[in-house]
Amino acid sequence: MKALIPAAGLGTRFLPATKAVPKEMLLVVDRPAIQYVVEEGLASAADEVVIINSREKKAIEEHFTPNPALVEHLRNVGKDAYADAVEHAGNLNVSYVYQDEPLGLGHAVHCAAEKTGDEPFYVLLGDVLVPDNKMLPAMQEISDAHNGASVIAVVPVPDEQVSRFGIIAGQELSDTVWKIDSLVEKPKLEDAPSNLAVFGRYLLSARVMELLAEGKIGAGGEIQLTDALDAVLQEEEMYALVIDPADGFDTGTVESWLETNNILWQRKMAR
Ligand code: G1P
Repeated sequence: MKALIPAAGLGTRFLPATKAVPKEMLLVVDRPAIQYVVEEGLASAADEVVIINSREKKAIEEHFTPNPALVEHLRNVGKDAYADAVEHAGNLNVSYVYQDEPLGLGHAVHCAAEKTGDEPFYVLLGDVLVPDNKMLPAMQEISDAHNGASVIAVVPVPDEQVSRFGIIAGQELSDTVWKIDSLVEKPKLEDAPSNLAVFGRYLLSARVMELLAEGKIGAGGEIQLTDALDAVLQEEEMYALVIDPADGFDTGTVESWLETNNILWQRKMAR
């Protein structure tokens, strides 16, 4: 099973910082943001993480490539903790596919179709970090309890944020689990069926990948993952894990990235 991380975006909100450095490589306390997401993927049932990259963002690939000369130098000068950290990053099981056109999240995910084959797969959006790595196993448990159904994480958001996210409609089965009836990408508040927003962690059936191949254009003129999820509901059940907003850290804007650094730094110092 694979965990897919779409990472081909331009990082517009962080310009000019992201002119030469990919947004995913920006530091969060002690690692580039994308390293948290790769580590989370590998801590789940996934055996490999596939980064859906753009050909211009080579720094991401360099980060996950072993650098024995640097490791040896660090060991020679007695900096073993740094040597270990460099070795660890180079040993993570990551591969790459490329998204050559910015046609949307659904298109990005479909670029990895050959990697996932006929297996279910995870999608992890890099804008949100889940440093305790507990969300994907919780989603897997719900899927296992429902014959391998797709499961997505959702988070309650205030009214003024509803139009920024994918929003679900469905029935509450328990405090943390909903059965999904439909999904809509970035609705107006008055059209939104709930305030439960798609959070950026998905466990999806192979059928979702097949539907993405149709490449239907949706909100914002892009091929939306949310639309393929809504379409698969005609054929399959889907569930939502309702998470606590404190379970994840948003790094999608400069302000939330700074705030995430602050909170995770405080936590590290308290250890
Ligand atoms: C994407 C998804 C959206 C989801 C959001 C979570 O939107 O399309 O459904 O709610 O991520 O961060 P984007 O933020 O790429 O516009």
